Amino acid sequence: MRQYREFLYEGTGWHACTVIGHRGACAYFPENTMVSFRGALDLGADMVELDIQCTRDGEIVVMHDEKVNRCTNGRGRVKDLGYAQMRALDAGSWFGKRFAGEKVPALAEVLEYCRGKIAVNIEIKSEAVGDSAIGGIEEKTLELVSRMGMREHVIYSSFSPMALAHLREVDQSAPIAVLYEKKHYKKMSPARIMEHTGADCFNCSRDEFRGSWARELVSCNIPVNVYTVNDRGALARLAGAGVGGIFTNKPDVMRAVLAASGKM
Ligand code: G3P
Ligand code: CA
Repeated sequence: MRQYREFLYEGTGWHACTVIGHRGACAYFPENTMVSFRGALDLGADMVELDIQCTRDGEIVVMHDEKVNRCTNGRGRVKDLGYAQMRALDAGSWFGKRFAGEKVPALAEVLEYCRGKIAVNIEIKSEAVGDSAIGGIEEKTLELVSRMGMREHVIYSSFSPMALAHLREVDQSAPIAVLYEKKHYKKMSPARIMEHTGADCFNCSRDEFRGSWARELVSCNIPVNVYTVNDRGALARLAGAGVGGIFTNKPDVMRAVLAASGKM
């Protein structure tokens, strides 16, 4: 397994475009579940991306939406449900009958699976971020990752500037990625945002990676990961344009596109 930093910093373009399985391989599997993460690895991802929040009783679980309504058979906000209640939910049937009984994973369960096999991008959802770095989801996550010996294989990202600041406050060397959202950074350019946040990596949507922004990111050698790209043409174009990694729901398609380039 290559260390995360190697493929974050080894350069940009065809040779170093990281295949990041978005919520696992969520084109084929129920998002953010174990079957989706196993699928992403099997389909050739270098890294999996997942979203985390805290339950009412403080367990870190993997779920994208603030509520469990869309991706489980339950209802309500993650922060209002206990861990035992979350584990009792069916997180697979909504996607397909054959996934019935799939559970909402704890972050620890996913890390246990990924350790030694694949790198992880942990996205801290804004709704899970509190006022203090001490005892918050950021500190708990850093501790868990460290305890599990995964420090070199995890990058943290968030749309919340507060989450990034908390991560930095607790661990100055943890790799962090800005998830760009205009309302937080107004007219700042990517280079200015990187300086402002002290981030290691800039994550943005495929539409935001264009024009003067794309030129600045590439010319300043800022590692950039773009989401979410599933079609062959765009994957090829972005991988050839200096993007360091691409979040995709179809890791197999991206792997095939890179292989067809003859360079990976
Ligand atoms: O990290 C890239 C992407 O996952 C961010 O957007 O809404 O899919 O979490 P979202
Ligand atoms: Ca995400």
